[in-house]
Amino acid sequence: MSTYLIIGASSGIGKKLAEQLIDSGHSVFATYFKNKPETHSDKPDYHFLNVLDENNSFDFLPDALDGLVYCPGSINLRPFERIKPADFVADFNLQVLGAIKIIQAALPRLKKSENASIVLFSTVAVQTGFPFHTQVSASKGAIEGLTHALAAEYAPKIRVNCIAPSLTDTPLASSMLNTDQKREANALRHPLKNIGTPKNIADMAEFLLSEKGSWVSGQIFHVDGGMSSLKV
Ligand SMILES: NC(=O)c1ccc[n+]([C@@H]2O[C@H](COP(=O)([O-])OP(=O)(O)OC[C@H]3O[C@@H](n4cnc5c(N)ncnc54)[C@H](OP(=O)(O)O)[C@@H]3O)[C@@H](O)[C@H]2O)c1
Repeated sequence: MSTYLIIGASSGIGKKLAEQLIDSGHSVFATYFKNKPETHSDKPDYHFLNVLDENNSFDFLPDALDGLVYCPGSINLRPFERIKPADFVADFNLQVLGAIKIIQAALPRLKKSENASIVLFSTVAVQTGFPFHTQVSASKGAIEGLTHALAAEYAPKIRVNCIAPSLTDTPLASSMLNTDQKREANALRHPLKNIGTPKNIADMAEFLLSEKGSWVSGQIFHVDGGMSSLKV
């Protein structure tokens, strides 16, 4: 059984992934920011962590980690002309620098594993251009570049992959899914005629963490209901 760290496991995709890994018998160290989930004996070990803090303590972690998943993200959709440079910086700090700081802190522990894997998150809106997505796409584009470069630098010891979801039913996407009309319209935009579930995305992350993904690195996985590649 393996030991994983999930940053941002109190909501959405990270929470679902933590539950799945626990159900599979793995050990999961999980972090929350604003919403601490209720804990039971069979739930992950939850710790407070704000990725924007400079001096986070990782004393709660064991000596070795088999995997790291970085979930914090944002979806700020606005016309480009109304987005201030500071807004781009804020997104970059959360999505990119936050991931960089966590990866750097976790590296010594990941290097002690025989099947170390890092999973990051991008968005469908990097591969495919959508209006009003410049703020999120700029940061997530950086995540995709980081994925490729890190995967090369740490091969063969640590695998690094990225998942690029389309609209997935989590609290982060609630403003786009808070009426039946919005849910139906958003489902119909996808070639597979559904919005994503946290499980759709967590299943891919679980594969990438596991031994089954042991020959996969430096990839961006478009788990997006066909949105980025199909025209139907
Ligand atoms: N949902 C979508 O439609 C969608 C689409 C494309 C890409 N993605 C990407 O997929 C990833 C996961 O998204 P999600 O929908 O599962 O998001 P979510 O439901 O909002 O969960 C985000 C997690 O990150 C934590 N977090 C937020 N800010 C943090 C901070 N400053 N420090 C530490 N932790 C922080 C949250 O903690 P608390 O809840 O405790 O505050 C939560 O556990 C993100 O990178 C997102 O950009 C999502």
